[in-house]
Amino acid sequence: MAFSKRLVLAMIFTVFVIAKPSEAALNAHYYDRSCPAAEKVILETVKKAILHDPKVHARLLRMFFHDCFIRGCDASILLDSTKSNQAEKDGPPNISVRSFYVIDNAKTKLEKVCPRTVSCADVIAIAARDVVTLSGGPYWSVLKGRKDGRMSRANETINLPGPTFNVSQLIQSFAARGLSVKDMVTLSGGHTIGFSHCSSFEARLHNFSKFHDIDPSMNFAFAQSLKKKCPISNNRGKNAGTFLDSTTSVFDNDYYKQILSRKGVFGSDQALLGDYRTRWIVETYARDQKAFFREFATSMVKLGNFGVKETGEVRVNPRFVN
Ligand code: HEM
Repeated sequence: MAFSKRLVLAMIFTVFVIAKPSEAALNAHYYDRSCPAAEKVILETVKKAILHDPKVHARLLRMFFHDCFIRGCDASILLDSTKSNQAEKDGPPNISVRSFYVIDNAKTKLEKVCPRTVSCADVIAIAARDVVTLSGGPYWSVLKGRKDGRMSRANETINLPGPTFNVSQLIQSFAARGLSVKDMVTLSGGHTIGFSHCSSFEARLHNFSKFHDIDPSMNFAFAQSLKKKCPISNNRGKNAGTFLDSTTSVFDNDYYKQILSRKGVFGSDQALLGDYRTRWIVETYARDQKAFFREFATSMVKLGNFGVKETGEVRVNPRFVN
């Protein structure tokens, strides 16, 4: 009797430990009955936006990453600042995360078809998957059922990883969100699409250190080409910068090939080659795009599970709490 009691207790404990609450709530079929058109509505909205603005791909993918890394995937990145509170979207690393209007448009349509049903956090997760697939990358089934948060603080954006991070810092930052070294290298592959402003990498090009003007881990010819794009002058445009790999609108494994050629744009990208814990993963993905695609899908699902709220609200307007 005592044994079976202990067994039951052990089983309860095991279920409790393995099934983290955030993961238990999410489900691929969450809206099958309550809003069967949800994914179609979001896909059509994303497709329409991309027709007019090719930057939307990269911005929506980055939006998902930043949303999940601060307070978990709860759409806190969508809330507008108020008189008394500066919100995440106005924190320094998020100033270049735009295209919020795409989520607004999708939500407006969803509120007509199935009011107060689909959370903004789920809309971001689905849109992020859609932009990857539409750019030639993998498709995966998005787990849904997130609820939206009610708080958003600009000063918390300081917790996002920075482009000057070394591998240990990157590992630590991802581990704090339940993500492994492999997840970190895999998700960094998000830099296969999109653009960076000079400010994010120019410290590698001028007065890098006491001994080197240019970051020695950077290919010399590549550094010269970036220097031309980012001259030290007051009159360079505010949009000056570079694409993150040579096939910027295509989701492929070119990012990893660039790193092997020492043409990673950020210090944090290039650092992945210089550390034994991450180098083998870069090499694997550079020669095997299928492996990268498979792992990217898996890591995106994992990222999407982080800090998910099971209870809370389904925001009606992405920009304001209900
Ligand atoms: C590993 C740590 C990471 C660091 C340090 C980092 C840093 C950055 C920086 C500095 C930019 C350029 C911002 C600008 O100057 O406009 C950028 C762009 C971008 N990042 Fe990351 N990032 C990281 C991981 C990720 C992940 C995990 C994803 C998605 C899965 C991602 C997706 C993107 C995309 C798509 C862009 C291009 C945005 C655009 O074109 O508007 N990044 N990242």
